Amino acid sequence: MTQIFKGIWGVVYRLSNDSKEGPLKNIVGKSPAIQRIKDLVLQVADTDLSVVIYGESGVGKEVVARTLYACSHRARGPFVKVNCAAIPGDLLESELFGYEKGAFTGADRAKPGKFEVANGGVIFLDEIGDMPLALQSKMLQVLQDQEFCRLGGHREIKVDVWIISATNHNLEKDVEEGRFRQDLYYRLSVIKIHIPPLRERKEDIPLLCDYFARLYSQKYGMGGFEVPRYLMDLFMKYHWPGNVRELENYIKRLVVLGDFDEVEREIRRFSDELPPQDPSLEDEFLKKIAFELARAEQGHLDLKEIKKRVATLVEKKVIDIALKRTDGNKRQAANVLGISYKALLYKIREFEEMGL
Ligand SMILES: Nc1ncnc2c1ncn2[C@@H]1O[C@H](COP(=O)(O)OP(=O)(O)OP(=O)(O)O)[C@@H](O)[C@H]1O
Ligand SMILES: [Mg+2]
Repeated sequence: MTQIFKGIWGVVYRLSNDSKEGPLKNIVGKSPAIQRIKDLVLQVADTDLSVVIYGESGVGKEVVARTLYACSHRARGPFVKVNCAAIPGDLLESELFGYEKGAFTGADRAKPGKFEVANGGVIFLDEIGDMPLALQSKMLQVLQDQEFCRLGGHREIKVDVWIISATNHNLEKDVEEGRFRQDLYYRLSVIKIHIPPLRERKEDIPLLCDYFARLYSQKYGMGGFEVPRYLMDLFMKYHWPGNVRELENYIKRLVVLGDFDEVEREIRRFSDELPPQDPSLEDEFLKKIAFELARAEQGHLDLKEIKKRVATLVEKKVIDIALKRTDGNKRQAANVLGISYKALLYKIREFEEMGL
């Protein structure tokens, strides 16, 4: 009997999770960290346990918050976002809890707060680490009593909301240093979700590129767009201080403007950890130049001939780089090099004839 029950329960659980696959697709990525986050989202979605999402700016905290909501039974209710850093302290209180007419100068009509608006759904407290200490005490009270009054009001209001917060602070450190109330911290962060920075999960970059390329090609009515290999190689080495948001902005820009050279220059300029390009190619090239100089040492001193051979070596190296970046496409390479296709073919034949 228990076996049958378990079996039925398993099917029901799988079916209900299958229906959540849709919203989960909004979290693009295949790194172990992202897989773990997706699993956690499914486990937590219908529990109403308070969640804090941690991560640097642009890693996707809001994406995860919205996915939690979309996977939960609250998806039919509202999703209300409050940015605790963008609203000054005293305004934030009235924004969250609302006010009655005459509560303060200028309150010429009553207004419900975001907690009331979010009833039956989710309130997303973004940048929770920036909430002023005074307001943190009131928040704690509200969470303990599960009810509150509007500013200037006496009527107790009870709401049913799931609280999801996000921060780029280290809240535990803020607690240690007295910037965040410990009791509130425990109330808010029953479940913690850490989203690692993009530089620590680079295997997600190609998927994110494809995703944004498709999204923005469609949005701006452009033809299919793909990140060229040489740029993808650079993307994989770059440290992405602005995380996924920065990557998204580059792809958006490339789809619309196609300014590949400018993007490449920017990334190279901002990069401080790019290793030199293909050291084996470098070695080979330097060996050939050294060989020319050694021949000169041995008495082969025809300056015109040496100049031509060395210049041709440099030319060949640049052409090799262009061909590598365009995946061997000679027409594209000629374009990048600023010469005609015919001229490129001529040069390649010349290299062969010279044995370079
Ligand atoms: N895994 C992901 N899949 C798809 N899109 C993503 C992902 N992560 C981030 N994005 C996109 O990157 C941008 C930034 O994400 P989001 O706003 O969620 O970041 P955040 O962590 O809340 O940043 P901030 O701290 O600056 O508010 C958004 O446009 C979002 O759609
Ligand atoms: Mg955000």
